[in-house]
Amino acid sequence: MGLQRLDIYNIRNIREQSISPSPGLNFIYGKNASGKSALIEAIFLLGRAKSFRTSSIKSVISFEQDNLIVSAQAMQSKGGNLHLGIQMDGKNIEIRINQQPSQKRSDLAYGLPLQIIHPKSFELLDAGAQIRREFLDWGIFNHEENFLSVWRKYKRALAQRNALLKTRAISQLYVWNKELDNYGTMVNEYRLQYLQKLKPVLNKTIARFLTLRDIDIKLISGWDTARQLDQLLIEDLEKDLRYGFTHRGPHRGDFHLSIDNNLAKDVVSRGQLKLLVTCLKLAQVELIFRERDTFGCILMDDFAAELDKENRAKILNYLSEIQCQVFITATEVDDFGDLRSIENYKMFHVEQGKVRWINVPCGTSL
Ligand SMILES: Nc1ncnc2c1ncn2[C@@H]1O[C@H](COP(=O)(O)OP(=O)(O)OP(=O)(O)O)[C@@H](O)[C@H]1O
Ligand SMILES: [Mg+2]
Repeated sequence: MGLQRLDIYNIRNIREQSISPSPGLNFIYGKNASGKSALIEAIFLLGRAKSFRTSSIKSVISFEQDNLIVSAQAMQSKGGNLHLGIQMDGKNIEIRINQQPSQKRSDLAYGLPLQIIHPKSFELLDAGAQIRREFLDWGIFNHEENFLSVWRKYKRALAQRNALLKTRAISQLYVWNKELDNYGTMVNEYRLQYLQKLKPVLNKTIARFLTLRDIDIKLISGWDTARQLDQLLIEDLEKDLRYGFTHRGPHRGDFHLSIDNNLAKDVVSRGQLKLLVTCLKLAQVELIFRERDTFGCILMDDFAAELDKENRAKILNYLSEIQCQVFITATEVDDFGDLRSIENYKMFHVEQGKVRWINVPCGTSL
């Protein structure tokens, strides 16, 4: 699965551009503010129906324009083309898959699995738990078709219970405790199984980039799973009523990545943190590949940030080995390093929102 053609309208300073990317690596370079991240943002929007930089789509739409459009033709692993399109005006979203309108963002996410690594990605290990839960749940979503409906049922039950806590409608709480117990236990089980699958792949990936001792990844469930969740919810009633929300359940879940029994974020350097996050994300891609025999695109914005030359070369080697389409940005061509041994790549230069293909014969460098 890879994008064969990408059309972008009205994303930040990119007004109207079409590119035909390589199915392998795509290098994108240009000065600050030329539009590199805007290009990455366009692809991300197509797969996730949201920006990775802002929650306000209005700020992504080019100034003085009403809406943005991204569409692409993608080659599927089993042959055949998939047409994907999204139009957004800040309020409404229109999604089209093979010319048919679709209501579901999840159809896009499943049709074009995307993984992104950008300068703020270190937050995966350094910020609050929400981002880690999203990481786990996105991975599971790509493997288990029933997961999304279970997760939605859990979220609905949680919203109902929290609303009842606020109005102190205690008599109705017990029904929702049961629902939370039922779906919450299922969500937790999915997460446990997923981490078990991810762990060996992650260890292998980390070994390629870092020499760290005793790496472990452990699920934090969000409650003491030796006990029934609904029992704990009854015990928590007073506290939950006081604060107006549910304190325990998988919505408080997390995972801990530790090195020699210390939380990774507390003991590694900035560059190592970026490498660890990159490994987590690449391990997730590899798992999807193994099970679905396909992947969409890996997006790496600001490739050189935090990484030294040696580590950049290691990452490029890895990316050129896997059968995956990758888009990588940097301000200077030199930041990509020596590309002579890399086959099947395309180079693009971005200037004032215009994306131009630079023909670099294979086996040479710019
Ligand atoms: N809604 C918008 N409409 C038009 N231009 C915008 C909009 N939002 C941001 N811009 C401008 O788009 C340009 C490209 O921004 P972008 O973040 O893509 O740059 P970049 O090439 O990634 O730069 P850097 O190397 O600094 O990361 C910037 O000049 C930015 O100010
Ligand atoms: Mg940028």
